[in-house]
Amino acid sequence: MAHLNDAAKAKITEICERYTDEKTPLMMILSDIQREYGYIPLEVQELVSEKTGIPVAEIYGVVTFYSFFSLKPKGKYIIGCCLGTACYVKGAQAIIDRFSELLSIRPGETTEDGLFTLDALRCLGACGIAPAVSINGKVHPKVTPDQVQEIIKKLREEAAN
Ligand code: FES
Repeated sequence: MAHLNDAAKAKITEICERYTDEKTPLMMILSDIQREYGYIPLEVQELVSEKTGIPVAEIYGVVTFYSFFSLKPKGKYIIGCCLGTACYVKGAQAIIDRFSELLSIRPGETTEDGLFTLDALRCLGACGIAPAVSINGKVHPKVTPDQVQEIIKKLREEAAN
């Protein structure tokens, strides 16, 4: 979607028109766009603004406030390391540091090959199996720094097949 082509413009227009009867359609529109494309860059926000009459500043505020929305494309694998209290006291910082070191990216970034996005998350609701790491929404229990290399290796192999 890098530069909005006609198909993407038509799709986004169609998404905006889905919710014309709603009083507060913005969250629904942005959720559908996020699901469809995986991110919501500024030029898409401008198009949504044009179609809905909602100011770009308001749309930008929503996109940047909710972590579910993203301004940039995310990787094929989204690795979310929980840094909530229970995970933190069980060594979660060392796990995210290891991912960061091996992937050469910081939390919030995506690898150049588009394979991995690393995120720091708050409580995943899985404190009993801390430290927890979510990979594309699947929670991995009691992860140790020593397992990180193997996790990345397996994901790379999966992506290559
Ligand atoms: S603090 Fe990590 S799952 Fe609750």
